[in-house]
Amino acid sequence: MEKKRFNDLIKEKLGNINLIVASNREPVSHEYFGKKIKAVKSVGGLTIALEPIMKNLSGTWVVYGGGNADKTVSDEKGRIKLSEGEESYTLKRIFLNKKDINDYYYGYANSVLWPLCHIVYVKPVFNSAQFLTYDDVNKKFADSIIEEIEESKYYCKSNDLNNISDVSGSDEAVNFTPSENVIWLQDYHLARCAKYIKEYDENIRISIFWHIPWPNPEIFSICPEKHELLEGLLANDLIGFQIIYHCQNFLRTCEWELEAQVNWSDYSVTYKGHKTWVKPFPISVDANYLHHFAKSRETNKIIDKIKKNDEIIGQSYEYLAVSTDRIDYTKGIVEKLKAVDNMLENHQELIGKFVFVQFGVPSRVHINAYKKLNEEIMELVSDINWKYGTSEWHPVAGYFKQLELEVYLAYYRLCDIMIVSPLHDGMNLVSKEYIMSNTDYKGMLILSKFAGSSKELYDSFLINPFNTECFAEKIYEALMMDKEEKETRITKMQNIIMENDIYDWAYNFLAALYFI
Ligand code: F6P
Repeated sequence: MEKKRFNDLIKEKLGNINLIVASNREPVSHEYFGKKIKAVKSVGGLTIALEPIMKNLSGTWVVYGGGNADKTVSDEKGRIKLSEGEESYTLKRIFLNKKDINDYYYGYANSVLWPLCHIVYVKPVFNSAQFLTYDDVNKKFADSIIEEIEESKYYCKSNDLNNISDVSGSDEAVNFTPSENVIWLQDYHLARCAKYIKEYDENIRISIFWHIPWPNPEIFSICPEKHELLEGLLANDLIGFQIIYHCQNFLRTCEWELEAQVNWSDYSVTYKGHKTWVKPFPISVDANYLHHFAKSRETNKIIDKIKKNDEIIGQSYEYLAVSTDRIDYTKGIVEKLKAVDNMLENHQELIGKFVFVQFGVPSRVHINAYKKLNEEIMELVSDINWKYGTSEWHPVAGYFKQLELEVYLAYYRLCDIMIVSPLHDGMNLVSKEYIMSNTDYKGMLILSKFAGSSKELYDSFLINPFNTECFAEKIYEALMMDKEEKETRITKMQNIIMENDIYDWAYNFLAALYFI
């Protein structure tokens, strides 16, 4: 959907909503570089996806302020207005102490909920004290949202409430006023937040989008705080998941753990008299923007530069394979390196011709499982290069610093294959970014069956990352694929993404919340 159509639809169908989003990660942090302060953009899928929506709706985004200059640039309530051209939104930061960050972010969110929901054979490390901090931080987020709601009431007094017009044609859509607050929580960091907001006012409509998978009830049942988490989530009026399978897992979990009343005909669950709708909303990218930016002058300039002298890869190649991941054990980086090794073993004709570059951004580095993963990746890269490399050529390059978007897009246009091989992933936006920036139809996507995006991008080469031999063979087949076939498949996938881009995702979610 075009940006403008999104804006028009929101205004026409939902009125003048005051959107309050909350997420752990902030889209922009402010950092000191010497005495200067610079704005640094986050690379995570969640923030990249939501930023265009917030700009368009001029909303308020409540976040954890993690930058070392965040406090300096924000007002006494943690607010800062971020504007670009005519678009702007307000960031409202909450500040956490070291214990909060340790127990809530590194602890309960990323050492319990992350491994529990992804089921990739990394054990959750349960810790009840960390849960208490997690709950406490959720309350801090709720308090900050409530503060925002209170202030909007003050501004609302001057609104002419007689202007309410229900253009939806639905009898149910009568509760909203033109400036009604719409609360949209994001992700597994905020499972308990809705409960505190409903305690403040049970009539506030509140929702959460869960960006990661929801496990089956058998797996979820091992969590000591399972009831508290479910009760927190069921305070929302709408819960969104990436794919229908996660909705089904969640509903089955509610039946299994709470004996809650699940209505399978409309995907809702009623618990203690409150009804929550549970629906799939596959998240996406700003498809038009990426498609145009990939062909822009900025990107073309970088492509020319790389062709003349590739400073990142530092050698020439005939076949190029690329991956971009946050360095996380769910992303299947180790499995991918093993498949590259196996492919070279079986196709020695590619020796000296094939290069695989893994772009990565280090993440959650204070957690042991992540430290170990970094070591394992380094070891594997060095082993593969030792095994096949020559003095002029080594098959694997790793680049583990954040790059500008146009540099990633330049490589996406230049490569012969993009490999996205998570062991389990809610969606995986890199796979969609790649398809939209594949403007010359030069490359092909190899995609894990266990990424949510495989449900839409079924014209890619689907692989099981645990099956090294088949994975390796698919890499080879994709490298050898003819251009016509690539063009047909990529065009089909681009059309699918265009049909449900980030604006469709946001509109569908907000409309569902509005009309329930
Ligand atoms: O996949 C879940 C998620 O929250 C994404 O939405 C986001 O891209 C990523 O994790 C970022 O993680 P973190 O904020 O811990 O770096």
